[in-house]
Amino acid sequence: MTATEERASPGVGRVLVVDDDEGLARFIVEVLTDAGHHAEAVSSAALARRRVEATGYDVVITDLRMPGESGLDLIAWLRRYDPRVAVLAVTAYGSLETAVQAMRLGAADYIPKPFEPAALLLAVDKSLRAGAMRSEIERLRVEADARYGFDAMVARSAVMRELIALARRVADSASAVLIQGPSGAGKEMMARAIHQASRRRARPYVEVDCGAIPDALLEAELFGEALGVPGTPQHKVRPGRLQEADGGTVLLDEVDALPLPVQIKLLRVLRDREVTPVGSTQRVAVDLRVIACSNLDLRSAVAAGAFREDLYFLLNVIEMAIPPLADRVDDIPALAERFLETFNARTGRRVTGFSPAAALLLTSYGWPGNVRELQNAVERAVVVGVGPEVAPDDLPPALRQPRGHDFLDEAAVRGMTISELEVAYARRVLIKNGGNKKKTARLLGIDRRTLYRWLGEREESAESDEG
Ligand SMILES: Nc1ncnc2c1ncn2[C@@H]1O[C@H](COP(=O)(O)OP(=O)(O)OP(=O)(O)O)[C@@H](O)[C@H]1O
Ligand SMILES: [Mg+2]
Repeated sequence: MTATEERASPGVGRVLVVDDDEGLARFIVEVLTDAGHHAEAVSSAALARRRVEATGYDVVITDLRMPGESGLDLIAWLRRYDPRVAVLAVTAYGSLETAVQAMRLGAADYIPKPFEPAALLLAVDKSLRAGAMRSEIERLRVEADARYGFDAMVARSAVMRELIALARRVADSASAVLIQGPSGAGKEMMARAIHQASRRRARPYVEVDCGAIPDALLEAELFGEALGVPGTPQHKVRPGRLQEADGGTVLLDEVDALPLPVQIKLLRVLRDREVTPVGSTQRVAVDLRVIACSNLDLRSAVAAGAFREDLYFLLNVIEMAIPPLADRVDDIPALAERFLETFNARTGRRVTGFSPAAALLLTSYGWPGNVRELQNAVERAVVVGVGPEVAPDDLPPALRQPRGHDFLDEAAVRGMTISELEVAYARRVLIKNGGNKKKTARLLGIDRRTLYRWLGEREESAESDEG
């Protein structure tokens, strides 16, 4: 069996027996082989290391006292070399101290001599099962990282790269994070990635949509509630969402929607680190990492008296503002490509990319629904399109319609600068003229170099491009 072959499933294991007592080693191998395991034996720690380096084992059963290198040294080496290999130590009768030492070095268990074959098999099965569980947990973790971690987030623009760098730095702390940004910008995704990168990731991640729960139910939902008459058998306390998140992360989505009385109660919970369920006098300690999201500027909510300032400061230890997608045009092509991959995989289509005209529409549109709207637009294109790549006609009509009269209004609302306006206007004219840059530059009364600069393209291409 070679190291490249898959590790055997639990039940059948690959076992290396290390013992200078050849009779005993042969006996162990026999017992294991009869039970269906693949077992072989070597007579020293040095030989064992060579075998482990050459092939893969699930379990190593080692004697502790051997001439030359001891079993304890072998255990220490194995833990470093491949922590996935389970080690069982065979100990002489009455040498509990070395057994303890072996366990400290990372042995999964010890088998005191003399032993019954059944005890040996039981110990091997137990460590195989534990190993299988560990690999399953590891597999789930890798899968969750790919799906929910920072690696799942597309970030090309400088502002998103900085935000993710900040998020990575603070992920492992227990500090509260406030994520603000417009709808569909990626707030929830950021929150999930922070949890996923923290040491709390194996603990619960609980989302509370503060805006979606009716006020009357919100307190019980968050803090739990006492049910039934105290002192009767029906009496019990139903834990709330905060308690469910104990040890993990709680996401308070649309935190601005919390009514003021609930804000006061939440403030106390976060300050005292304990919850008191509604109708109960019992306090329950909770250990929480809080991430709050808001579409509104919470600071203005504070100024307007709709949000408690003390709670605001408690939530806003680390502030992250995710800009609207239109303010980070650099992210659009990469996001579109990512979504194209996703929907190709989901629908079985093989759309290769975006036509230049379609790509231009994507980067020129204002995306009021932000990343979510882009995601939907790409989904639509994959579903309705028939060509090898996405054409302008495959995109939602909104993207193809010039927004006309409201453009300047919108620019004023968004507080665009003159240079942002120049760029946005130039893109618009470019689309109108089918991507013809020469004509666009002429219409705008600027030279082509300036147009390339505005569009963020390299100047050299101005020489080669005659379009
Ligand atoms: N940087 C990104 N990379 C990849 N996908 C993203 C990114 N940002 C957002 N998305 C995707 O866009 C969609 C909307 O993101 P999300 O739900 O996180 O937005 P939100 O800010 O919480 O919106 P809302 O305020 O409406 O709840 C999700 O499907 C998410 O996976
Ligand atoms: Mg959200």
